[in-house]
Amino acid sequence: MTADTALVRIDKDRLWDSLTELGEVGAYHDEDTDLQGVRRLALTDEDIAGRELVMGWMREAGLALRRDRIGNVYARRAGEDDSLPPVLVGSHIDSVATAGRFDGCLGVLGGLEVVRTLDDNGISTRRPVEVAIFTEEEGVRFGTDMLGSAVAAGRIQLADARSQVDRDGVSVGAELDRHGLVGDVAVPIQPPHAYLECHIEQGPILAAGGKQIGVVRGVQAITWLELTIGGRAAHAGATPQHLRKNAGLAAAMITVHLNGMVESGDYGRLLATVGRQDNYPNLINIVPGNVLITVDLRNPDGEAMQRSIDDLQAYFAEVEETTGVTITSRTTARTPPVDFPEHMQDLVEKQATELGLTCDRITSGAGHDAGEIAALSPAGMIFVPGLYDGISHNPREYSTPEACADGINVLLRAVLELANS
Ligand code: GLV
Ligand code: MN
Ligand code: MN
Ligand code: MN
Repeated sequence: MTADTALVRIDKDRLWDSLTELGEVGAYHDEDTDLQGVRRLALTDEDIAGRELVMGWMREAGLALRRDRIGNVYARRAGEDDSLPPVLVGSHIDSVATAGRFDGCLGVLGGLEVVRTLDDNGISTRRPVEVAIFTEEEGVRFGTDMLGSAVAAGRIQLADARSQVDRDGVSVGAELDRHGLVGDVAVPIQPPHAYLECHIEQGPILAAGGKQIGVVRGVQAITWLELTIGGRAAHAGATPQHLRKNAGLAAAMITVHLNGMVESGDYGRLLATVGRQDNYPNLINIVPGNVLITVDLRNPDGEAMQRSIDDLQAYFAEVEETTGVTITSRTTARTPPVDFPEHMQDLVEKQATELGLTCDRITSGAGHDAGEIAALSPAGMIFVPGLYDGISHNPREYSTPEACADGINVLLRAVLELANS
């Protein structure tokens, strides 16, 4: 890095203003926290409004925009040698139904802020720089997380992604077509030179350790299951215990069993969450006849993840035996643990250290687009600390303007180094 570029810093207030303005798109009042939250489920009108806002800013910054077949956006700043593969930075702006303003948005708007800063300072780079917005990172609408980046990376086939449906039976393909989001960039995309993503940590580690930057080692494995438990709805007062097929009881047994698996320590650092439970007919005096539950499993160890899935499946047979229900299990998402290359971790750590920021190497608890793009090119991630125990997927999610600026200054320097290599 030359003397001049080493002194360049991003505009903290502009970054913060962009985060704040995007946070108004899809804003709602959250009853639980009594706070304003963000709800921009993938490919809804709110998500499209958010994209339009950000894409408008990208155009104002002179970027050339293209889309791929799954609606991922690539906004390009030309390089001195524009034939070289670009340095890609990005993340997502779709959200869960109860989100804050940072998850994903920091990575996209931070990429835009990097480009704006390069322009302000008249800095050109040897390679092009592209800022990506990935489609349906959260997976809460259509059921598979990192869907857009997984298609871009070739792990999920376009046709399979397009055929996924939400709870109302609306497909990804229909929504892409309705909003005119199908672009001409073929998938899988051409491998970029490297990929970088800055993200809020979404956990408590950095703040607890008093560290300013997280150098991300990798992303832990994720498995999502959707269980349909079929029992028999029957009168609560007139149906003897031995004649019941209680789907609610079966769901509760599975939930408690999962907790026991986690606490046993037999599966390494397994985390298990039953996040959704739909009960039918959901009435006080009727034995639950049908229950749908989702299981979210996380584990940094792929072998221990597989063992936990096998053991859980074996337990389903036990539950069927004792309760008389039938359990159908569908895997809706499955990603292995991903380790980012050591040289990408070193690059992030070097930039943070040169900026005088304290850092720690941590493994990501959440899934990220970087985990998918890592299959195409060297990928790395920068975490910034969150407040309030790092709570996320909650309107309480918060990071400070200073912490966000620190992360994006690290991103700026790392992009400069990669784009001039
Ligand atoms: C996506 O945000 C996930 O990690 O669940
Ligand atoms: Mn995210
Ligand atoms: Mn998220
Ligand atoms: Mn995520």
